[in-house]
Amino acid sequence: MAILGLQLQQRFPVLTAVCYSRLISATIHAPAVASVSSLSCKLKKWNNGGRLPRRLVVGLGASFWAQYMNMAGNSKSFIASARLKGAVEQALQNVEWPEQFPFKDEDFQRFDETSDSLFYEAPRFVTHIDDAAIAALTKYYSEVFPPSNTPGVSILDMCSSWVSHFPKGYKQERVVGMGMNEEELKRNPVLTEYVVQDLNLKPKLPFEDNSFDVITNVVSVDYLTKPLDVFKEMCRILKPGGLAIMSFSNRCFWTKAISIWTSTGDTDHALIVGSYFHYAGGFEPPQAVDISPNPGRSDPMYIVYSRKLSTA
Ligand SMILES: C[S@@+](CC[C@H](N)C(=O)[O-])C[C@H]1O[C@@H](n2cnc3c(N)ncnc32)[C@H](O)[C@@H]1O
Repeated sequence: MAILGLQLQQRFPVLTAVCYSRLISATIHAPAVASVSSLSCKLKKWNNGGRLPRRLVVGLGASFWAQYMNMAGNSKSFIASARLKGAVEQALQNVEWPEQFPFKDEDFQRFDETSDSLFYEAPRFVTHIDDAAIAALTKYYSEVFPPSNTPGVSILDMCSSWVSHFPKGYKQERVVGMGMNEEELKRNPVLTEYVVQDLNLKPKLPFEDNSFDVITNVVSVDYLTKPLDVFKEMCRILKPGGLAIMSFSNRCFWTKAISIWTSTGDTDHALIVGSYFHYAGGFEPPQAVDISPNPGRSDPMYIVYSRKLSTA
């Protein structure tokens, strides 16, 4: 499979991110090939006794293959996705992280470097993943969130919009949404307050230390160009033991996603998000969970989560 994956990558030096603009046209876009080789170099350095690089290569190949088959409507995609499930869940097990954050400024560049305010100026009252993926995320939240209406509980939904995918009727005293479009945030029924802020310009979060029990971020971690600054801030504002849940699929606004994301696959995405937790510091070792419903038939859905250390 690894060999197959590599062959496919050579033939289709692409990727993986299927764009949201399927709303406009269903297309696989080809981002910078340079990033693939640069990631490969980085990944080679993450040598974990010979095991990690192999796992990463399989991740890249399987990811590509699953999505390629998906786009082709080929029934074998179920098999490909089933392989992928294990790869993503294992991605953050036994990782030996390099001493320094392995990514460079160029890894956080986007195809479209114009202002994010401009891109998000008009509200989009759409959903960015399919209903089955949303249902899987909502179910996951229902299993890990504090019970509805628990006194003193505060939740922050980062990169929020008009929907947060929380369980039906879920309430807390304080649910803050941060995002780029005020009209979307205004219409989000679970929010008790919202803040419009471009995290790529201003990664500092406007909240007190130790003030949130849970932070969520749905299908948007790939738009952060200063992820370490944001994750350090997340750690600061989480209560000790507080939970940060980053979820993602294989879709994105590819012109706005960082190049290290658009040039890699699902398994690598788990490692990338895991690295944000690791290098931000103050978090427990991050874990990856594959909550994809109907593998190969609906959008995949992955979680990378961690808790703030009780000593941080
Ligand atoms: C694909 S949408 C996802 C929205 C929502 N989380 C959901 O699940 O439907 C991406 C979201 O990321 C947010 N976002 C993108 N770039 C951002 C930035 N520079 N700063 C803050 N938020 C940003 C936008 O507000 C937008 O709503």
